[in-house]
Amino acid sequence: MPVPIDYSERIPNNVGLAGDRRLQRALEGWQPRFLDWWRDLGPALPTKDVYLRTAIAVGRDGWAHFAHVPMEQYRWGIFLAERDPRRVIGFGKHKGEPAWQEVPGEHRAVLQRLIVIQGDTEPASVEQQRVLGRTAPSLYDLRNLFQVNVEEGRHLWAMVYLLHAFFGREGREEADQLLLRHSGDHDSPRILGAFNEATTDWLQFFMFTYFTDRDGKYQLGTLKESGFDPLARTCEFMLKEEAHHMFVGTTGVQRVVERTAEQMAAHDTEDVLRYGAIPLPIIQRYLNFQLSVSLDLFGSEQSTNAGTYFSAGVKGRWQETRRDDDHVLIGAERLMTVVEDGRLTTRPVPLLNALNLDLRDEYIADCARGVKRWNQVLAEAGLPQRLSLPHEGFHRKVGAYAGHHISPHGEVLDAATWEARSKDWLPTPEDRAAVASLMQPEYEPGRFAAWIAPPRTGINDQPIEFDYVHLAEEGIG
Ligand SMILES: [Fe+2]
Ligand SMILES: [Fe+2]
Repeated sequence: MPVPIDYSERIPNNVGLAGDRRLQRALEGWQPRFLDWWRDLGPALPTKDVYLRTAIAVGRDGWAHFAHVPMEQYRWGIFLAERDPRRVIGFGKHKGEPAWQEVPGEHRAVLQRLIVIQGDTEPASVEQQRVLGRTAPSLYDLRNLFQVNVEEGRHLWAMVYLLHAFFGREGREEADQLLLRHSGDHDSPRILGAFNEATTDWLQFFMFTYFTDRDGKYQLGTLKESGFDPLARTCEFMLKEEAHHMFVGTTGVQRVVERTAEQMAAHDTEDVLRYGAIPLPIIQRYLNFQLSVSLDLFGSEQSTNAGTYFSAGVKGRWQETRRDDDHVLIGAERLMTVVEDGRLTTRPVPLLNALNLDLRDEYIADCARGVKRWNQVLAEAGLPQRLSLPHEGFHRKVGAYAGHHISPHGEVLDAATWEARSKDWLPTPEDRAAVASLMQPEYEPGRFAAWIAPPRTGINDQPIEFDYVHLAEEGIG
């Protein structure tokens, strides 16, 4: 029988925490440090309460409860998807064996590292988005920002639970470190590059939730396949929360494009900044940037580590169980693009060493779907312009394209040409200043900043003009 979520506990959970006093005490010791971190580096805008959803059950139906709650009283907790007692490992050399309920000694270091890396991204994005509340385009958007923030906080809880419950003293030390590294910190930065970039404005926030949260979705998708069952079940539930973050990104960019398209059509010009909208070329440059830093998160295309994790049963492929192959992959090959003599060419590589590339391909195909949606908005406005994903080699710092200059259309360029043209492809300081000039807060219920269209519907069937956030007195004005 699944353990229901117990909200009478100090730490809400469905892992039977009350039955493990040592673990409970350890996590109750970490909790005040988490709350200190949230107060210091979480959302900066003072609020009274926010219309947030909280998990009440991990099953298919009715897992979320919506209510106005003061954010610091949000019930962060530990929720794992239900356990399937018959679950077996689906891939690698342990394929067909029962999933592990404890950490196998031989995979301990690797599992701990993967959990730490995943855990590090969760608080990082909260830190990156800390000041955005001050320029929210509406209470609806403000609420969505805070929902994403509290859930990233919960994802941190999810990883900290695993570290405390399964990795002993080392795990507890790593859990402490997750609160001590900070996004963009000179001495103690977050582990991955994209999580040290500043989120400067709401256009970047929407691009971040579209592209970078989606990277998270794909990483969680591989960990959901893990032979280590508690990790798999944790990630399965995190993916449910992650769906809302994707929604915020997809619809956020779409609503920006809607407003831009409307002004372009009305005034027959791309220069819509003077009409209070964000010019399409700036949107494209933001998109180019965010995709390129997100692609770097997948690591090198060729990675013996990725192959080792797979064979060991620690980390699977995206939708592993739906793949139509032997799930062991020994001897299998695929093509990989490389830069050779100043041009792009392909060569066969062992599939087992190219699993990062496999995941990245799945991710890019998924990214393309949103772009199609956004382009529909342009088409419906009768405009010929379109947005596009840049070439996967564009502006890369990791892997086969690093050290080369690739245009968004996939041409290999020399350094001088890149230097001359990259300002057409990446956000310039002027672009960021132009977007920043539009970022005036709109805190009146039902009203939206001029640069973004209202959504079609509200949250949880509430009207668009619902009072999603109550600001604290000091937050107004
Ligand atoms: Fe997350
Ligand atoms: Fe997320």
